[in-house]
Amino acid sequence: MGSFADPSAAPATWIWRDGALVPWREATVHVTSVGHASVAAVFEGIKAYRAVDGDRLLVFRLDDHLDRLYESARLCRIVIPFSPDELRTAVLETLRANGYRDDTYVRPWAFPRGLVREQMVPAGVECEVVIDTWPFTSHLFRERACRAGVSTWTRPGDSQLPARVKAFSNYHNGRLAVMEARVNGHDWPVLLNDRGQVSEGAGACVALVRRGTVVTPSLTSALLAGITRSTALDLLRDLGVPVEEREVDRTELALADEVFFVGTGWEVLPVGTIDGLVVGDGGTGPVTARLERAYADTVRGVLPARPGWLTEVPR
Ligand SMILES: Cc1ncc(COP(=O)(O)O)c(C=O)c1O
Repeated sequence: MGSFADPSAAPATWIWRDGALVPWREATVHVTSVGHASVAAVFEGIKAYRAVDGDRLLVFRLDDHLDRLYESARLCRIVIPFSPDELRTAVLETLRANGYRDDTYVRPWAFPRGLVREQMVPAGVECEVVIDTWPFTSHLFRERACRAGVSTWTRPGDSQLPARVKAFSNYHNGRLAVMEARVNGHDWPVLLNDRGQVSEGAGACVALVRRGTVVTPSLTSALLAGITRSTALDLLRDLGVPVEEREVDRTELALADEVFFVGTGWEVLPVGTIDGLVVGDGGTGPVTARLERAYADTVRGVLPARPGWLTEVPR
């Protein structure tokens, strides 16, 4: 079968980089840059929180995030050459070795090994796995409600560019939507799907509260199966708040009493305006506030977490 690139072909002698020819072999980049360039790169965003006792670092839902990483890899037909147990140990070891004591973001990602000369093939290749970490500041209880706007960019459908796969390539869509939101004076976009129903934010799931019930788009609404979304639904049920997962019309956002985003990075982020319409009193609504409290207390080990939700980083 014809191919644009023979993977066994010797590399060139020179490559042009930033205005000059440099020896091909010296044109290197840091490993944290290279993975993103791969069309098939899949990743996870995980958080480790400083426990309420101030002394322990607790990784939140580590196994669930790793499960999703393997699902993303399977859907992209790339083979992670490590077992989930090995990656679990690697995440904990990376956190331990870096000596983190405070809130930390963890990003494992996997991308096809070797030179990606032809992005479209092959399938079933082994991949390289990198685990990067960096400190983050939690915005729980600090974030003022954000301004959100419904984007003209839509989330591609499951048979187009499946949002269920957490792949860097999907974030081009989200990036376009964020830039549009900023131009229009909003902080963050809400994207509709290819059927015109509400899907999710650029980096978080979205939910609304109407007459005491929390409503969030179903998992078949072209969104990432958010782990924070699932945590939020569990915590809300614990709080006795009725929840619904179903198709959501965009007009429901405008009529909601509260709207909020949920995601590992965004945690629980209240929405104060949607397309310029003030939501509730424009601040954090009462149901959102209860969820934010429960979420903070869960990730920091104040409330008893469900089995497997908190993994302590060894010293
Ligand atoms: C597009 C998108 N949707 C939803 C989420 C929320 O997922 P999770 O709660 O698992 O972090 C993210 C998180 O990174 C995301 O990038």
